[in-house]
Amino acid sequence: MIRCVSCGAEYDDDEVIYTCEKCGSVLELVSDIDVSKDIFEGRKDTLWKFKECIPVDESKIVSLNEGGTPFCKCDKLGEELGVNLYVKVEGSNPTGSFKDRGMTVGMTKAMELGVSTVGCASTGNTSASLAAYAARAGLRCIVFLPSGKVALGKLAQAMFHGAEVMSINGNFDEALEAMTALALEKHLYLLNSINPYRLEGQKTIGYEILRDLNWEAPDRIILPVGNAGNISAIWKGVSEFYNAGFVKDLPMMTGIQAEGACPVTNAFRKGDKRVVPVENPETIATAIRIGAPVSDIKALNAIYDSNGYSETVSDEEILDAQKLLARTEGIGVEPASAASIAGLKKLVDQGVIDKGETITCVVTGHLLKDPNTAIDACTKPTEVDADIDTLRKLLME
Ligand code: F0G
Repeated sequence: MIRCVSCGAEYDDDEVIYTCEKCGSVLELVSDIDVSKDIFEGRKDTLWKFKECIPVDESKIVSLNEGGTPFCKCDKLGEELGVNLYVKVEGSNPTGSFKDRGMTVGMTKAMELGVSTVGCASTGNTSASLAAYAARAGLRCIVFLPSGKVALGKLAQAMFHGAEVMSINGNFDEALEAMTALALEKHLYLLNSINPYRLEGQKTIGYEILRDLNWEAPDRIILPVGNAGNISAIWKGVSEFYNAGFVKDLPMMTGIQAEGACPVTNAFRKGDKRVVPVENPETIATAIRIGAPVSDIKALNAIYDSNGYSETVSDEEILDAQKLLARTEGIGVEPASAASIAGLKKLVDQGVIDKGETITCVVTGHLLKDPNTAIDACTKPTEVDADIDTLRKLLME
């Protein structure tokens, strides 16, 4: 069953519907978990090991073996910050971001519904993922990208997998509004995270974190927030497993935004339940360059209900954290993902995070998504002939 998170109106699972027809709010799938957690054991480590908890038709699954991502204990960085730190590396998914979790479920629903065309607006990763899954499913794929603001790797993926790519003269929020209007006119099936099936895939990040910690909850999950779907999804996942009795505690959901694109943090600071859109969002972390997040209600609920927190970080703090994680722990992430590490550092400094807390930072996309930003942050390689004497001298300097 699909249910409106605001007025509780109910809709059939197979209705193609993105927002509540009665009040206009966002929707979610209602799932009851009536299995034992033991059934997940011994299964192949993809998100489909949780198939009983994902409300789609198993015979229609479109998958690239997503999920089951690395869960790295980061002792060096953790010690530096005084916390017990684990990093969930979502860049290890098939197209290099967590979006694949949402897309395998969303595309499976698309097959169930028998649609022929899928579409999304994207800051990059959603389009890369959708293009790959549409190719695997054999569907037509249309993506709208904000012109000049999509990192190179993501653009290459969307184009290479054969999506019809439109470079929109406008920002992500404007591109999404246009894409949504076309979906409502039934030209295509919308696979942005306003589609509640997307979040059914992404909630498995929450499932896996609890499983990875041997069925215990971390004190806190920290992640970047853009369109606000992922924090909502992870909260749904951990809440479902908590309600099923698989764990005894719930984590504090902690959402980090870029200073130039921080409607959710602004709302959190005022104690509001809705955001006031930021008109011209700007940040080097182009993945989260979003001013009007569609899942703001769900995200703020997740933060309030979990006794969580929201904070902003500057572009400089993001780039510093990106380098710190890469050079201390060997984990390469794109700028938006590093916002979680930058946020952790800031909240430890501010005393919001207590020493010794067990923290899971979700790093959402791979370093190679945005090669330009990575190269710009480094000194150029030294050009040198393949002459051993010269090279030895250089090494001894
Ligand atoms: N991190 C990365 C790498 C992302 O690509 C995104 C969102 C987020 C974090 C934020 O997640 O929107 O669920 O709050 N990227 C979308 C896209 C908007 O189009 O690829 P969110």
